[in-house]
Amino acid sequence: MFQLKNDRLLRAIRREPLDMTPVWIMRQAGRYLPEYQATRKKAGSFMNLCQTPELACEVTLQPIQRFDLDAAILFSDILTIPHAMGLGLHFVEGTGPVFANPLRSPADIMKLAVPAVEQLDYVYETIKLVQHELKGKVPLIGFCGTPWTLALYMIQGQSHPQFPMASKLCKEAPDLFHKLLNILTKSIYLHLQAQIAAGIQVAMLFDSWGGLLTTSDYETFSLYYIRQIISAIKLYSNYNNINIPIILFTKGGSAWLEQMASAGCDVLGVDWQVSLKEARERVGSKVTLQGNMNPAALLNKEDAIWQEVQSILAAFGSGSGHIFNLGHGITPEVPPEHVQILVKAVHELSQTYHKP
Ligand code: CP3
Repeated sequence: MFQLKNDRLLRAIRREPLDMTPVWIMRQAGRYLPEYQATRKKAGSFMNLCQTPELACEVTLQPIQRFDLDAAILFSDILTIPHAMGLGLHFVEGTGPVFANPLRSPADIMKLAVPAVEQLDYVYETIKLVQHELKGKVPLIGFCGTPWTLALYMIQGQSHPQFPMASKLCKEAPDLFHKLLNILTKSIYLHLQAQIAAGIQVAMLFDSWGGLLTTSDYETFSLYYIRQIISAIKLYSNYNNINIPIILFTKGGSAWLEQMASAGCDVLGVDWQVSLKEARERVGSKVTLQGNMNPAALLNKEDAIWQEVQSILAAFGSGSGHIFNLGHGITPEVPPEHVQILVKAVHELSQTYHKP
């Protein structure tokens, strides 16, 4: 493995002194970049892009080549695990991800098995290629969805603002639902472990739909399994004498920061529903905070982006322990030059917050 040239992200995670606040962007490798669109066209489909390591590597590196970002995130998708379980993932223009074989009966759930790790070899091949190309420029973040978030897509078969089919199953057949969550927990853990073995330096868990749950159901159906995954990853890393920090992001989870911080993660991703001042007061002595600019603010003019960055940096305040990011993924309408402005604003404006 190459020596890291830019370790701001890892230093922020360890809350060590820094020159400036590190920044990366959820969905930084994505549709707002014309070069992404070109590579996706060359691949023919989203799944081909994910499953062709040379192309997935190319797309992972595009935002790093264009902007002065402090981390790369692997180009892949959280739904590759259900695909490897036989659900047949494809992407439909205007609809998003769709499963050909969603879970429609108890029998569909009973016959699910943890996928053989080789099924996701294309992900690990991509990681190795990316690390070879990055040569230690910035750290590489790997990721998975959480069991709850994956289960929603697998039952509904596609995206939905409320995922009613999954909520119904969760209430009417909780034992069956827990069986599904258990299989996913093991699959996720094994997938992250293989990503670590292939060379990722940070692991992120996306609980994009945790916010649909009530407080007690969040504990029972989501955080309970997240805790198991985090413990398993920590055990695996300790055994192998490596330290792989874990970022946990629950969209809509700002009411549960304390519970999330107690799950053993190193970083909490926060959306824009809570100020970083409040988040820091509540959990900042336990975890680093990542976030939390509203993605819509990237549509604004240059001076408004600078102002927004300034107010987020001021909300966190002085010292290490903050990774600048959006509170959710960047949207396709954002002009790429606005990302350039954001990165410059974070790096310049944050320096006064890191003076000894
Ligand atoms: O740059 C990166 O962040 C790395 C790559 C990445 C993608 N998906 C690529 C992608 C990551 C980390 C994800 C995670 C993911 N995938 C999540 C969790 C994060 C979140 O946004 O809440 C979820 C819920 C998914 C499932 C998924 N994949 C959806 C709902 C969609 C369609 C809607 C959308 O936002 O585009 C995708 C497609 C997808 N995944 C695209 C990309 C770049 C767009 C595909 C295209 O049309 O080219």
